[in-house]
Amino acid sequence: MKKPVIAIDGYSSTGKSSISKIIADKLGLIHMDTGALYRGVTWYALQHCLNENGQIDLHQLFSSFDKINLEFKNNDGTLILYLNNNDISKEIRTNSVSDNVSLVAKQKEVRDFLLQSQRSLAEKGGVIMDGRDIGTVVLPNADYKFFLTASIDERTNRRFLELKGLGIEADKGQVKQNLIDRDKIDSEREIAPLKQADDAIIIDNSELTKERTIELILSHIQKI
Ligand code: DC
Repeated sequence: MKKPVIAIDGYSSTGKSSISKIIADKLGLIHMDTGALYRGVTWYALQHCLNENGQIDLHQLFSSFDKINLEFKNNDGTLILYLNNNDISKEIRTNSVSDNVSLVAKQKEVRDFLLQSQRSLAEKGGVIMDGRDIGTVVLPNADYKFFLTASIDERTNRRFLELKGLGIEADKGQVKQNLIDRDKIDSEREIAPLKQADDAIIIDNSELTKERTIELILSHIQKI
């Protein structure tokens, strides 16, 4: 039997990636956190493509795509993102990446650059992919589509705790503002904006634990 293709989209810090990873383990699927790819490109830009004002020079970034090799490698069941053979899994979670990623992700050139690798991974089935435009643009024919949302305060707490767990200093007010700003840019951009697919199942997990959210998603998958 062909394994399913599952798309999980939604707002920042709704738990998309950690939930997708657990579902992948349970169902024997490959998990791709597509936000990490956008973060990886942003990290590269912050290292190599800054103008004299310290801002990202987008044209320099667009002409550097052939120097950017992003790969996920499996480390004891956890997929670690490598940029040109260097582990950047911690760097992509830093505040400077979070503050710049939505600007980078709204560029058509960047989205086109990352589209093919996302689609080819899903060709053989057996994939769960999380992001913002998976059900709408990347994998419109996915077998199952979910859209996760939660209140801004709940998402702020989750992100704050995630950063703390990674040993990254954070201020709650700033974390909240970053989520608000990113959601706005991600939802209002022209290309592949964050929005639920017409055929996606919406889950508001403000008051649900991660385990309960996973159960709910699995109940839909196993029903069909
Ligand atoms: O899931 P995340 O918070 O790590 O994603 C980081 C940013 O990447 C997010 O603010 C928007 C962008 N992104 C996107 O535009 N499309 C995707 N499929 C995934 C992420």
